[in-house]
Amino acid sequence: MARKPPSAAVRVRLPYFDTLFERIAVASDDPLVKALGTRHVHWGYYGTPSEADDSVQSLIEAQNALTERMVNVAGVDPQHPLLDVGCGFGGTVAYLNERLGGISVTGLNIELRQLQRARQLIEERNGNDLSFVHGDACILPFKDHSFGVVTAVECIFHFPSRLRFLKEARRVLMPGGRLVISDFVPLAPAVLPLALWLLAHARAMGRFYGWFNYFSPSSVTGYRLLARYCGFRLIHNEDITKNTLPTYKALLRILGIIGHRGAERATRYAAWVSEVGWVRYRILAFEAT
Ligand SMILES: C[S@@+](CC[C@H](N)C(=O)[O-])C[C@H]1O[C@@H](n2cnc3c(N)ncnc32)[C@H](O)[C@@H]1O
Repeated sequence: MARKPPSAAVRVRLPYFDTLFERIAVASDDPLVKALGTRHVHWGYYGTPSEADDSVQSLIEAQNALTERMVNVAGVDPQHPLLDVGCGFGGTVAYLNERLGGISVTGLNIELRQLQRARQLIEERNGNDLSFVHGDACILPFKDHSFGVVTAVECIFHFPSRLRFLKEARRVLMPGGRLVISDFVPLAPAVLPLALWLLAHARAMGRFYGWFNYFSPSSVTGYRLLARYCGFRLIHNEDITKNTLPTYKALLRILGIIGHRGAERATRYAAWVSEVGWVRYRILAFEAT
């Protein structure tokens, strides 16, 4: 059964989107708008991280490469409608729209202003059927078994509950369908030091990145259990941390140029937990059983 969409009163606090919208209103050639305000609002996948430079152009290419990896794991075709949860400015929808034909893709987001921008930026092509829907990842406004694929690119840590989201994704997926996500997953032995470290630094990080939940589950094993409970089987588990690390250098350069000290600080902290290896960037895929 389809659930009700959230009321207009439902709000998430995502200060980095506030910054993006402030800068979009002033100049579209702003480096932050180019990097995070026009298509993908996610980290990049750098094929050869040791040779990566910190330019905006390389970051944009790396963001596309991350999308490509996730879409390949998902396996998209016209027979299987795709739902992209937490779609941001519709980067994944745009990516698919440009490369495939005859597909049905729905982007869902909790923030109306992001959906409005996605609609402005993306034009249907190649006989594709695109739609953007306002809703909460944990109360999906769709009927059971509506989709063959659900993606959630770099957003599950903002959701009120990973458990509720996985249950909802399972409900709207057809049997045999796939859920593909990317997430920052703590390394199991680092959970305690990470939790203690976050007690000191999470507030500063939250001032720019908003609510960011590293825990529950706090390991791949935890994810495997959660998946089993919700009617999924973990079929793909890829640690791409080292390929994402150049993103921090690129972002820090941009944030330095625009002089956003709070965002620089938050990003340095996020970089540190990834560089020491406590938090791993993973692409995970689940099959609906
Ligand atoms: C880091 S951005 C990623 C955006 C997009 N997936 C991309 O890769 O470009 C996180 C996204 O999650 C969305 N989000 C946060 N909480 C949400 C919720 N409860 N339901 C739906 N979307 C949510 C935010 O509005 C934002 O668009």
